[in-house]
Amino acid sequence: MSRTRSYVSQSVQQLRPSGIRRYFDIAATMEDVVSLGIGEPDFVTPRHIIDRTVESLHLGQTAYTNNSGTIELRRAIAAYIQRLYGVEYDPDSQIVVTVGVSEAMWLALRAILDPGDEVLVTEPCFVANAAAVEMAGGVPVRVDTFVEDGFQITGAMLEAAITPRTKAILINYPNNPTGAVLSRERMLEIAAVAQKYDLIVLSDEIYERLVYDVTHTNFASLPGMYERTILMSGMSKSFAMTGWRIGYVSASHEIMEAIRKLHQYLIMSAPTMGQVAATEALNHGEKDVADMRGEYDTRRKLIVSGFNSLGLECFEPHGAFYAFPSVAASGMTDEMFCERLLYEERVALVPGSAFGKSGAGFVRASYATSRENIEKALERMQRFMERHG
Ligand SMILES: Cc1ncc(COP(=O)(O)O)c(C=O)c1O
Repeated sequence: MSRTRSYVSQSVQQLRPSGIRRYFDIAATMEDVVSLGIGEPDFVTPRHIIDRTVESLHLGQTAYTNNSGTIELRRAIAAYIQRLYGVEYDPDSQIVVTVGVSEAMWLALRAILDPGDEVLVTEPCFVANAAAVEMAGGVPVRVDTFVEDGFQITGAMLEAAITPRTKAILINYPNNPTGAVLSRERMLEIAAVAQKYDLIVLSDEIYERLVYDVTHTNFASLPGMYERTILMSGMSKSFAMTGWRIGYVSASHEIMEAIRKLHQYLIMSAPTMGQVAATEALNHGEKDVADMRGEYDTRRKLIVSGFNSLGLECFEPHGAFYAFPSVAASGMTDEMFCERLLYEERVALVPGSAFGKSGAGFVRASYATSRENIEKALERMQRFMERHG
């Protein structure tokens, strides 16, 4: 019998592919490309973390762990959150170790959404967010942020998007792709909206340790927010551990019970060796975090002043490892700018519109790369701007 239908579900057919990939695919076919496109640390995981993990493998620690993660790691996570923010989670019942924030996000959304429930998603944002809401059966309602507000969401912006179907707000600060950090006052505005409309706040704090000249506020630490917050974070960015695939999710007991159920059917347990590595990182990795943050900060200043002196106006990012300059001075759209820059000068950036329509007119440049690469990219971009500025 010949095929008369697509085997792929309607819902998956309707998902939009990530706008990031296209530029990486083009860049991969070219030589001598300086890439500021990648959203992961250029550092190798600190040596003591690798050594401790290799040792555990030689000791034969290769089996599944408890569904929620090893108790050693859950205790280390609870102690870490308590030490940084004074927030208490019970390691036995309120922490699940996940395959990165990626899994944590899917679990959290699946745990709280019924079909048609709306989630306010601030944009520009990480490319997976809206798709994750859709795949959990929800409806993403995009709420734009703007450079004039330092890409910080306000309570009023969120309130304007609320309907009777709104169930949750999804925020990510420090933010990918803008580098914005939410001030405590703005967080309190969000908290007030969550309280007023009885909403859950999903807070993706994966860049929490990478802040410069400002402090990061944990959303669950705000008055009245502990019961409403689903906190998601992990090892990938702060400890240069993207490939180990370890994150975690913490929330109230009721939500955690739902999350644990989903996680055990979906994943069973996060990678065992990754969990050993994460435990070592949390217990003994503070100096590594401080060293890497110091280096990112130096690069941040270099790239932001570099863009500004090229006429590519760049708002000061206080978090993560991204700069988000405007390309208005080139007279091009962000997509055209990235494509021409790649072909003409072999510098890879990501167009801001890949992160939502309010990202249009901006480009994301990751400074998780060497100073030498940043300088080379700026030199090439200077030539480009001399021709097109
Ligand atoms: C904002 C944000 N959330 C989540 C992730 C995924 O992180 P993980 O490696 O923990 O799955 C990323 C990765 O780029 C990110 O930028």
